[in-house]
Parts: sequence; C-alpha cells; structure tokens
Amino acid sequence: MTQDELKALVGQAALAYVVPGSIVGVGTGSTVNCFIDALATMKDQIRGAVSSSVKSTERMQALGIPVFDANTIESIPVYIDGADEIDHSGCMIKGGGAALTREKIVADLAERFVCIADESKLVPVMGRFPLPVEVIPMAAAQVARRFAASYRGTATVREGVVTDNGNLILDVRGLQITDPLAMETEVNQWPGVVTVGIFGRHKAQVCLLGTSQGVKTLG
Ligand code: 5RP
Repeated sequence: MTQDELKALVGQAALAYVVPGSIVGVGTGSTVNCFIDALATMKDQIRGAVSSSVKSTERMQALGIPVFDANTIESIPVYIDGADEIDHSGCMIKGGGAALTREKIVADLAERFVCIADESKLVPVMGRFPLPVEVIPMAAAQVARRFAASYRGTATVREGVVTDNGNLILDVRGLQITDPLAMETEVNQWPGVVTVGIFGRHKAQVCLLGTSQGVKTLG
C-alpha cells in the first residue's frame, strides 16, 4: 500500500472514535484531510467540529461541516489529529504543518487524543524529524541559541512560513528526545516560545497506525 492509501485507511478508521451528537476536535495535515473527507459522510450525526487551523476549517466548511469557535466550547470527547513522529508511550512531535499551537489548544479541550498516522511515524526515540517550535519573530535568534546551548540542536527558521497566529516556526535538528515531558516543560518556559511541538502533556491515548496489514491500534 502507498503512504496515501495508509492515510486514507486510518482516516476512515478514526470515524469509530467519533461520538455521535458531539463536537469533534479536528487536527491538521494530509492524514487529517482524509479524516475530514470521511467525517463528511457522517456530518448529520455530529453537531460539528472545532478546528486547529484555517486550512482544516476551510476544508470542513466546504464539505458542510459546521465549525465552532474554540472559545464557545468547554470540553469535547475526542480530538483526532496526525503526528510527525510518535513514540511507544504516545508522545508525539507535531507541527510539520505549522499548526502546533492551535492543535495543542484543541487537544487541551479534549478528553481523548486519537492519533492517526502511517507506520513510518512510529519511532523508538523522537528527534529524527526536525522539532517545530512556534516563536514570536523577535525571539527567533535567541531561542535558536538556547537550543544550541541546552540541547546541541540546530534551529533554522522555516522559510516562507507565517503561522495562523502571525508567528515563525523554528525547525530544530539533531535532537534525541529521550524525556519528552522534561524538554516540553523547559522549552515552553523560554521567552518568545509560543509552543514547542512536543506533545507529552497532551499525548495520544490511542494511535491508529496504518500498516500494510491493516490498521493497528496502539494504546
Ligand atoms: C500539522 C501537524 C500534522 O499532524 C503533522 O505534520 C502530520 O501531517 P501529515 O498527516 O500530513 O503527515 O502536526 O501541524
């Protein structure tokens, strides 16, 4: 199976986690696009969605799925999103699509995070995928220096990208994220960091992994 077919498979499988009559948290990315297309087939069974990006909002609205402002919602049963890497404990690197801050906000509203990914995303230790960090533009160089000093990481500004929140993305290479919670906690304290793309506090409770043998459920 191709990677696109695996993404379609998990996008479809995630429908089983959608709670009828509820508002669904919806992430961002090519795997989530497959989920959104699948979700449209049951749009009459849900109240709507809360979205993690302008792109996902536009896709859902085009398919007739009502999108709610996150400020009007206290809690949702489930958030469904992809990942750039996921380890065996459910911690993830996210932000390849630059939507990490809104993704963490919607994940925070959710009782359960269901990650959908193809099997290439499952890793023993995270860090091969460059870690995305959303930063206030004036702090980019200082945050990059801190990564070099604290973690020997090399941070570069993602060219041509401004987030939905008007900020920059640093991509940090050369990391071995052996303690995701500790790194997430520390980096989030650095002035100018809006969100680090480690999802340790908001890790996945369930991961639907697309494999050539079908969907494997972890967690
Ligand atoms: C966007 C994300 C995505 O979930 C992540 O990049 C995975 O994307 P894809 O499904 O296209 O591989 O975190 O900010």
